Amino acid sequence: MSEMTTIVIFGASGDLARRKLMPALFDLFLKERLPENWKIVGVSRSPMSDEDFRNRMELGCKEYARFKLDEELWGEFADRVRYRAFDLSNLEHMLELDQELAAFEGEGPANRIYYLSVAPRLYKPALANLGAADMVDERNGWRRVVIEKPFGRDLHSARALNEMVHEVMDESQIYRIDHYLGKETVQNIMVFRFANSLFEPVWNRNHIDHVQITASETVDVGHRADYYDGVGVVRDMMQNHMLQLLALVAVEPPASLDAEALRNEKVKVLKAIRPMRPEEVGQHTVLGQYRTYRDAPGVVPQSQTATYAAIRFYIDNWRWKGVPFYLRSGKALAAKTTEISIYFKEPPHVMFPIPSSAKITKNSLTICIQPDEGIRFSFQAKEPDTTADMRTVNMTFRYASAFGPTAIPEAYERLLLDIIKGDASLFSRGDSIELAWRLIDPILEGWNAEGSAPLAYLYETGSWGPVEADRLLAQDNIRWSTGCQN
Ligand code: BG6
Repeated sequence: MSEMTTIVIFGASGDLARRKLMPALFDLFLKERLPENWKIVGVSRSPMSDEDFRNRMELGCKEYARFKLDEELWGEFADRVRYRAFDLSNLEHMLELDQELAAFEGEGPANRIYYLSVAPRLYKPALANLGAADMVDERNGWRRVVIEKPFGRDLHSARALNEMVHEVMDESQIYRIDHYLGKETVQNIMVFRFANSLFEPVWNRNHIDHVQITASETVDVGHRADYYDGVGVVRDMMQNHMLQLLALVAVEPPASLDAEALRNEKVKVLKAIRPMRPEEVGQHTVLGQYRTYRDAPGVVPQSQTATYAAIRFYIDNWRWKGVPFYLRSGKALAAKTTEISIYFKEPPHVMFPIPSSAKITKNSLTICIQPDEGIRFSFQAKEPDTTADMRTVNMTFRYASAFGPTAIPEAYERLLLDIIKGDASLFSRGDSIELAWRLIDPILEGWNAEGSAPLAYLYETGSWGPVEADRLLAQDNIRWSTGCQN
């Protein structure tokens, strides 16, 4: 019999466990990708029987998984799922949990994953107690700790958390999750760039005019105000997901797919992004808040939390000098879409008889991360039966057509599997998290500085955000693209 692997989910009564983690683990089970010998133990403070926990998880899978749940197979899976009510901030509880886990695991070496799906304020006590209870000691099998975002709320707190992690365990034992990195289409950026020889020669300042990265959501803050208010979109999306997407577009080709090689290259990009001085923040960023945000339960009156942000960054290196990268993200917007558009420069000379004031539309390559995953290339074509009129047309690749409508797994599936295998390439290293905060802190400081008003422009639910964000691009004579929406 092979070694036991126990997946301990702290915060198991929360949303992430039933919406994402359990459906992903069940799908891995169906695909026979879990280790031969495994157990899942859900832990949180609420008392619940094993049976109640399993039922709750089953409902979660029925509601949120991409697949239809087969009752018999679920039964087989659920037999190996347990629940225990413990408070992870209490050392006595942690020691008891350790004993119970050892009893489940039986004789012989056993590996463990501790998934901290808990409120960020509990990360420190959790790490301290895992250390104090000797639960990250690897003498009896490997021990891996997974931390969800947000990793800190600024550079100072992220550093303190990193220090705490390193007091308790080795960097190789920690997996800082950014679920965007588990998305197939995000991983495909590397394949697209480095497994095709066509694009790399033009992937630089000589040919690229600018880059736009959009992550827009139609949902509003809903019942998440407890977490969201005071955090806002800059910490919730920009510091992690959006900067990671930017890094993958801008990264130099690593020598291998090895976790360190790729992560070293990403760190170089983050280091090369020009940090803003607080007084420049008004010039390069726009923050917004949807009009009804303050009516949401849990939001403090007069809250200045931004639910929308648009930011212009520059990367000061040989490849990207002078190319603006525009990032925008927001809630309660017109469409749910995550996309990256690369705009190429206009032809240097126009030989066609178009009015002198007219310009030829730039070629663009749009990577549709979600929901309609794929890639679209827009270029000019001659309109038939005219002398030389032209129109923008598209060449489109869609994952659903090429690989089938259900080919794309949930991001968490890939990430959980990588944790089990010990592959950290798709996880953020401590230094890259700190570098990202180094870019975000001045933006937050700039906006919070006395005299900078208004903090967030209002926008209507269902719009594309405040008009001031359009003006940000208009300064450079461009407009926001929604290439995946057309
Ligand atoms: C999470 C944020 O990390 O990402 C949420 O905390 C956001 O606020 C979510 O809604 C978006 O993820 P996705 O995969 O739906 O784009």
